[in-house]
Amino acid sequence: MKNTLIAPSILSSDFGKVYESIEIINKSDADWIHCDVMDGRFVPNISFGFPILSAVKRAAKKPLDVHLMILEPENYLADFKKAGADILSVHIEASPHLHRTVSAIRALGMSPGVAINPHTSIDLLYEIIADIDLVCLMSVNPGFGGQKFIENTYSKIDRLKNLIISRNSKAKIEIDGGVDFNNSAKLVNAGADVLVAGNTVFGAANPGEAITKLKFSTAYTTTT
Ligand code: DX5
Ligand code: ZN
Repeated sequence: MKNTLIAPSILSSDFGKVYESIEIINKSDADWIHCDVMDGRFVPNISFGFPILSAVKRAAKKPLDVHLMILEPENYLADFKKAGADILSVHIEASPHLHRTVSAIRALGMSPGVAINPHTSIDLLYEIIADIDLVCLMSVNPGFGGQKFIENTYSKIDRLKNLIISRNSKAKIEIDGGVDFNNSAKLVNAGADVLVAGNTVFGAANPGEAITKLKFSTAYTTTT
């Protein structure tokens, strides 16, 4: 069975209890910790920045998967490294010099990822796909947790999978937004390698159990 990676998004957690949430993730079947950084400019919301990220890093026993929803991300790459990012994704829509930015992320010792909005065509990744480790495919419009999954994501996964194969890329496909127990197995079967989940994990009575259920969702459900 394929090893689906689970990246709980702390955006949906209670920040008054951030260490408890990290401890839950540390002890769970989760693989990464997804951290959503929003600037109130690229997206209509502001989340958190370096001090919170550094605090999360101090408690985390799993890699930090940092998703930048900010304009001019290239200005802050070294700061995100310092704050503890292991995987760093920038939005294609916010990065006019994407190749330079991706190369700088790798040179700093992080894994580069590219995030792509629901309306943005997969074709725009053609020239960069071989240089990145992760595509963060947005399955909601970025900015908020707890939104409804956009169904067109399945056909984007399909096109992305073909692109990855045809360009001999090692990039993983990460699905971000609206992932729940009803769509997780279908997403994995469609080709998702990493599932981000905020509400489904931190809205659950038992977040650790929710993570396990997502991790092994193809065994729990028979959806095709
Ligand atoms: C949305 C963020 C997501 C969000 C996912 O802008 O990028 O990572 O936290 O939350 P859920 O799983 O609740 O949609
Ligand atoms: Zn995210």
